Amino acid sequence: MKVVKSVSELQKITREIKDSGKRIGFVPTMGYLHDGHISLMIKARSENDVLIASVYVNPTQFAPNEDLDTYPRNEAADIEKMKAIGVDYAFFPSDEMMYPDGYMTYVEPTGKLLTVLCAKSRPTHFKGVDTIVLKLFNITKADRAYFGMKDAQQVAVIKSMVRDLNLDIDIVPCPIIREADGLALSSRNKYLSEELRKDALILNKSLEHAKSLIKSGEFRAGVIKEQIIRDISAVKSAEIDYVEIIDFEHFDVVDSIVDHTLIAVAVRFGRTRLIDNFLYLEN
Ligand code: PAJ
Repeated sequence: MKVVKSVSELQKITREIKDSGKRIGFVPTMGYLHDGHISLMIKARSENDVLIASVYVNPTQFAPNEDLDTYPRNEAADIEKMKAIGVDYAFFPSDEMMYPDGYMTYVEPTGKLLTVLCAKSRPTHFKGVDTIVLKLFNITKADRAYFGMKDAQQVAVIKSMVRDLNLDIDIVPCPIIREADGLALSSRNKYLSEELRKDALILNKSLEHAKSLIKSGEFRAGVIKEQIIRDISAVKSAEIDYVEIIDFEHFDVVDSIVDHTLIAVAVRFGRTRLIDNFLYLEN
């Protein structure tokens, strides 16, 4: 595995790979790698000739009051994990590389998708995500890029960017990876005390409860939402940011649960905001 820190060096490498007709798979991350990230890399490894993964804590997707400064980092451990999977190129750009003096160009998603879920409480977040992801797509020249459904809205925003800007890249959504007790893996889980980590299990539990209600024939979104809110509110430390039930194709809030309905939650435990979701599929 080659660790690359310069944009121009990676561009030179990817030009040569494309000239040789090989397929490039790409996994963008903010590092502090866990099994969720690793699952994307394993899939990308098996589906492409060359695998590039990036580690970059992108400042433009954090609001001033968010956790940019404390976001966990461990470059040495990340490198070891990527080596073990068989990543070919690990890209670790710096802020100066990505946003040099005079930087002025951003990609800003708009429309319905930006009125729901995380975009409401993080209004500038997806502008930062689209901007960095487009830059990384351009640098890596990837044929396929892999994203986790843990961040379902991110998948939708990036798919929309690819469609709207006619990018020649396939977006591959990948399933949510969880701890044995159901907590979705997240770099931010590190912020949780033992107590809050236990409390955070309510995210998956409330979604599982919703799933079982749907299975038993309850398709009214209002009823499901109320139940999730009741379940989460029973945990004292939990402060709900949102519980939303939307159509994952058109991003409307829905009254009934049908194929491709996304049930998503964001909850603060102390200072840590965690998200989780489940996509209801009929088959
Ligand atoms: P980060 O939070 O590091 O996540 C990188 C990728 O790993 C994302 O596609 C995310 O959805 C996926 N991921 C995280 N936890 C997961 C889990 N438990 N199961 C499956 N996949 C999981 O998302 C970002 O970074 C950034 O916004 C980025 C796309 C890199 C742009 O800066």
